Amino acid sequence: MSSVVSYAIHDSVGVITIDNAPVNALSLNVRAGISTALKTAEHDESIAIVIACAGRTFIAGADITEFGKPPQHPTLPELLDQLDGHPKLTVAALHGTALGGGFETALSCHYRIALESAKVGLPEVKLGLLPGAGGTQRVPRLAGLEASINMMTTGNPVSAQLASTWSLVDRVVSGDLLDEAVRYAKTLVADQASHKQARAATFVLTQDDRDLLAKNRAQLLKKTRGENAPQRILSCIEAAADLEFDAGIIRERELFMECMADPQSAAMRHMFFAERAAAKVDGVDKNTPLVNVQHVGIIGAGTMGGGIAMCFAQAGFTVTLVDMSVEAVQAGVDKIAKNFAISIKRGRFTQTQVDAVMANITPSTHYEDLAEADLVIEAVFENLAIKQDVFRSLDSICKAGAILASNTSYQSIDDIASVTKRPEWVLGMHFFSPANVMKLLEVVKGAKSSLSVIATAMAIGKKIAKVPVLSGMCYGFIGNRMLRPYGREATLCLMEGATPAQIDGAMERWGMAMGPLAVGDLAGLDIGYKAREQLTDAQKGSPANYLVADRLVEAGRLGQKSGSGYYQYDPETRSRMDDPLVMEMVEQACQELGIERRPISDEEIIDRLTLALANEGAKILEEGIAQRASDIDVVYCYGYGFPRLKGGPMHNLEATGIGRGADRIRSFHDTLSADNWQLSKLLGDVAQGTSTLADFRHD
Ligand code: 3HC
Repeated sequence: MSSVVSYAIHDSVGVITIDNAPVNALSLNVRAGISTALKTAEHDESIAIVIACAGRTFIAGADITEFGKPPQHPTLPELLDQLDGHPKLTVAALHGTALGGGFETALSCHYRIALESAKVGLPEVKLGLLPGAGGTQRVPRLAGLEASINMMTTGNPVSAQLASTWSLVDRVVSGDLLDEAVRYAKTLVADQASHKQARAATFVLTQDDRDLLAKNRAQLLKKTRGENAPQRILSCIEAAADLEFDAGIIRERELFMECMADPQSAAMRHMFFAERAAAKVDGVDKNTPLVNVQHVGIIGAGTMGGGIAMCFAQAGFTVTLVDMSVEAVQAGVDKIAKNFAISIKRGRFTQTQVDAVMANITPSTHYEDLAEADLVIEAVFENLAIKQDVFRSLDSICKAGAILASNTSYQSIDDIASVTKRPEWVLGMHFFSPANVMKLLEVVKGAKSSLSVIATAMAIGKKIAKVPVLSGMCYGFIGNRMLRPYGREATLCLMEGATPAQIDGAMERWGMAMGPLAVGDLAGLDIGYKAREQLTDAQKGSPANYLVADRLVEAGRLGQKSGSGYYQYDPETRSRMDDPLVMEMVEQACQELGIERRPISDEEIIDRLTLALANEGAKILEEGIAQRASDIDVVYCYGYGFPRLKGGPMHNLEATGIGRGADRIRSFHDTLSADNWQLSKLLGDVAQGTSTLADFRHD
């Protein structure tokens, strides 16, 4: 039949089996194989057809790697037309995750049977797309308005049980799925069950329903910060009520093609593959031995250590949380309990679940309790000497074969590892605050960290539901190193003519979750102040970069925690308000430094900040600190609020034109600062077309 699709008759039922590892995506050879099998089944002795999958899941969707290429026949809509009109009764047998085009294939069958562990979903929206193989027309006809909005605009899968209450699945079973499916098909034929086509069902919208749609439109526009796909999905749902099925399908196709051509979708598809590529480490393969980690020690029960403890405890690890005093460690445990109480209130967990998670955490004030830990993560004060002291103690206490990790944001992993007798077991595991919420985990390899230790840290990152990205050693690693030029340009825009509200407003309207100065206020301006205290004047650069920030801190304006920073904060709502005092400070500093203020456009702010990120990112790539450009995008989207709709700083640069970006950087070099705007060699090369950012790999 085909290498990925087989057809055989089981007990008088024709069974089409798809076996296209890893997730049975609907690649051309799968579509062609199913089509041939359907034709064979039209004329053979089978009484009905079952479509099932081998491996871990039913079809998980269209093959995303084929998107953007010329369509090849049979296309998915062509195949589903063939399935929908098949003369024999068809049953889809679902296990694992039936997603996107996979679930649409199932919806084109007359009946659906699912294992109780199965999930079904239409996740296209997460790729900036809409279900484009009839899903937007069939789901409303079967499940009604609210279920359709829920499924298609969140993209989240639902259990087979819930799908059956929505009439999307006809039977939920346990046991051997294929046996059950064949038996079900035979019973349906024996009972002379109709060939139930979703297209034949009616879907009507009342005025209340239309009001609900309008409300969702407005809410989603705000919530998704301008994503186009959810709006187009709602239009398709309306079309399902307003048009005949075939006309609705044409409308769905038009809007699907609009999504496909939308740069938002290109960016989100880039992020799908970027996230998966980031998990892969050069030199690591399935033969690389992993350390068996079950018991995790965490040193420091402050905000960071507590958040890290929550991640591990939730994932079922045994956690020992250590701090200097009983009071400190108890305060940490109380804070964790408080965070979980909020999750219970929001319905994310039950009290029983939280009790089980809390039972995984043992507080302690003795490093000796870490003697048998498989992994210890240090999250103490950001100071090299203190961290080295901790690692000296760990080296003498922890068993051989334990991984020793530092959550440092800036310190050298090599300097930390050097005080131990086992530097190959030491590396950085850099979490982002709040650690229980933020998805990014930078795994930082020291010069001597072993491949097995790195591979284990990456695998553990996935186990605790983080998105791990490997970084080499440099000041600030990938993320915080890029933050310096980004922050510098924000401060310089402020000095040269903009206001905090203009800078943050421009970046937020562009898509950043929060503008740079507001982020400074949230994190605490004293953090940067203390970091600068450890730098020489030469390292700090021009006073224009930091004079105002220093004066804000010296005036007691530490940011949100002290009620004011670059803004004043409403004590109740925490909403930010402009503060004329800040502008007085800025103008005073400009006078002292001889800076003449001028009007600055939003476009200039956006260009300076995003190009500062991309130029530094390119240098990081050139130096081999990041393995690939897309890793940098993952770091920024998951750790720094960069919009997924723009696909990260490196993708954004490619999407908006590397030539244009390089020209802007050269003009900033000539007109703003030659020191700050040295074009990275890699960007210069790529702008000339000698290589591409996406393909660049350091030797
Ligand atoms: N097309 C092509 N490759 C896919 C794919 C797809 N739809 N889904 C997954 N893959 C690849 C991944 O890139 C990865 O490749 P790699 O090993 O080379 O990195 C491999 O399959 C395994 O994927 P995961 O690492 O994600 O495996 P998990 O077990 O963690 O998750 C999954 C499995 C839940 C199925 C997850 O892969 C997933 O969510 N896939 C995407 C599902 C999706 O978005 N479907 C809709 C596609 S769009 C569509 O169908 C349009 C239609 O409406 C017309």
